[in-house]
Amino acid sequence: MREDVVGRASVEDTPELKAYYKDLEQFETAALWTVANQIEPWEPKSASVPVLWRYKDLREPVLRSVELVTPEKAGRRVIYLNNPGRRDVAAACGWLYSGLQVMHPGEVATSHWHSASALRFIMEGSGAFTVVDGHKMTLGANDFVLTPNGTWHEHGVEATGSPCIWQDGLDIPFVNAMEANFFAVHPNLYQKSNTVVDDMTKTWGNAGLLPSTGEWTKKYSPMLKYEWAPTYEALSRFALATDGSSYDGVMMRYVNPVTGGHVMQTIGAAMQMLRPGEQTKAHRHTGSFIYQCCKGSGYSIIGGRRFDWTERDIFCVPSWAWHEHVNASATEDACLFSFNDLPVIESLGLYREEALGDNQGRQQLS
Ligand SMILES: [Fe+2]
Ligand SMILES: [Fe+2]
Repeated sequence: MREDVVGRASVEDTPELKAYYKDLEQFETAALWTVANQIEPWEPKSASVPVLWRYKDLREPVLRSVELVTPEKAGRRVIYLNNPGRRDVAAACGWLYSGLQVMHPGEVATSHWHSASALRFIMEGSGAFTVVDGHKMTLGANDFVLTPNGTWHEHGVEATGSPCIWQDGLDIPFVNAMEANFFAVHPNLYQKSNTVVDDMTKTWGNAGLLPSTGEWTKKYSPMLKYEWAPTYEALSRFALATDGSSYDGVMMRYVNPVTGGHVMQTIGAAMQMLRPGEQTKAHRHTGSFIYQCCKGSGYSIIGGRRFDWTERDIFCVPSWAWHEHVNASATEDACLFSFNDLPVIESLGLYREEALGDNQGRQQLS
């Protein structure tokens, strides 16, 4: 967009000014007008680029890491998603980190906590478990699990299970940007779990019902695990009663059942269903989004480029990038899990959304 307009910086260099800038430098200062247009763009300019990470490319290298490093040595054996525009902060998109973690039967990673909030979305395998603040949870494919900031947590796979791979999602880059990240290893390396397995999901995860005893005042969802079967059932039921959103199809947010708000303070998540043949219209908004296809296949057009995805593929939509989604099947629904930084964006009053007006709401491929 034009910068030679009143109100924008348009000072041309002269020998006097260059000398002046040099003088300012020695006092650790600089003239705002030399950087103003860059640090205050007319609209968000994401450094992240849209990326599709295909599971057929990633699965083998992820499994190979098992032969190369132990969870004890690695801390967490994870291959992370490294957005070409965000390598300096190890982000998959915006200020969100994501990676694929693999564990073999009988392996357990040591317990720790950190200031970053974390989630995982289970991709394959059986017998995986997570312990969060003493609450043990079993993990199956397409289950969504929280490890909120400050909670002790560890992961493993029972000896009777099979190799497990899951997607981790964290706000590590954001918490580092805030210069507020702490990390601690559990003094006993592993937690004791004295509760009933899956007690928090059994207590807090009943649709339309909350326990009559017991209070929950922490700023994250007490549910900790959202299982796939009831999630898919909810979407299927909702699909019977709605036309869905023009931009997202049949979409539901994972929520803290006590408040109806986001599951954690810094990361939100959702599941959406694109009905057979459904093609959404393009929109764009602030906030960074990382998707995983957990059922079906199709494609998304992001920033004018087409990305074809199928089950377990992961892709990102950077802030303010145009995007629309298409279910390629005429008979099967397709489901997309996604997580985002909307809790931060919304609580700071930074959410903006815009629909594409041209071409009946569909992007032209670039
Ligand atoms: Fe962790
Ligand atoms: Fe969107």
